[in-house]
Amino acid sequence: MLEKMGSFFDARLEGYENHQLTCIESAGEFYPFTAGCLPLHPGAEVLDLGCGTGLELNWYFEAAPEACVTGIDLAPGMLAELKQKFPNKALTLIQGSYFQIPLGEKRFDAAVSVESLHHFTQAEKLPLYQKLRAALKDGGYFILTDYFAHEDAFEAFCRAELLRLKAEQGIGDDEFYHYDTPLTVAHETQCLLDAGFSRVTVLKSWGATHTLKAEK
Ligand SMILES: C[S@@+](CC[C@H](N)C(=O)[O-])C[C@H]1O[C@@H](n2cnc3c(N)ncnc32)[C@H](O)[C@@H]1O
Repeated sequence: MLEKMGSFFDARLEGYENHQLTCIESAGEFYPFTAGCLPLHPGAEVLDLGCGTGLELNWYFEAAPEACVTGIDLAPGMLAELKQKFPNKALTLIQGSYFQIPLGEKRFDAAVSVESLHHFTQAEKLPLYQKLRAALKDGGYFILTDYFAHEDAFEAFCRAELLRLKAEQGIGDDEFYHYDTPLTVAHETQCLLDAGFSRVTVLKSWGATHTLKAEK
């Protein structure tokens, strides 16, 4: 049974970070690696798309205690947990969908997203990535650490399964339900380039998880 995206994560809040770190291959490596790709100077402005409880921020705030982070997430429970974890940090939290929330112009030194964007299609992500690029300062960049499909056929299969389940449960296309529909790295890269990013590189890979850097 498909569950709505925000409620899916809020329902699994207890033990969420432990689950991520123990059940996803090499999570103990890719979270600190991702945090280490972000700017370290005091006052660095960083946007986190789908921040959840801010697992990546555990490492980031340790390395950059004076960074200013804006986190967006659909799940209010995840955000409440994040706020409670870092009461003294410069943390602005916005509850809602990153597809809808305005991100502004040239505000951020960098953006990051971990394990959140593998639920969406290229068509859904293109306007988000255009908006994200505009929100980065000149010289800014986006670090994406996520779960990717190993081949086109698997990407197509996951998408078809989601559509089949939605149809079976009478769910329309206007709401997000939790189901993994990862793109291939090639399709994600194309989407970022189509959105106007000048260069996309794969920084590191761990099984199905890859860290991409998209430069404005
Ligand atoms: C697996 S969690 C990852 C959280 C955190 N980045 C981490 O790696 O621990 C995915 C998060 O993305 C959020 N999310 C999914 N779709 C979203 C959307 N359209 N807008 C904002 N947040 C979204 C979910 O609510 C959830 O908290």
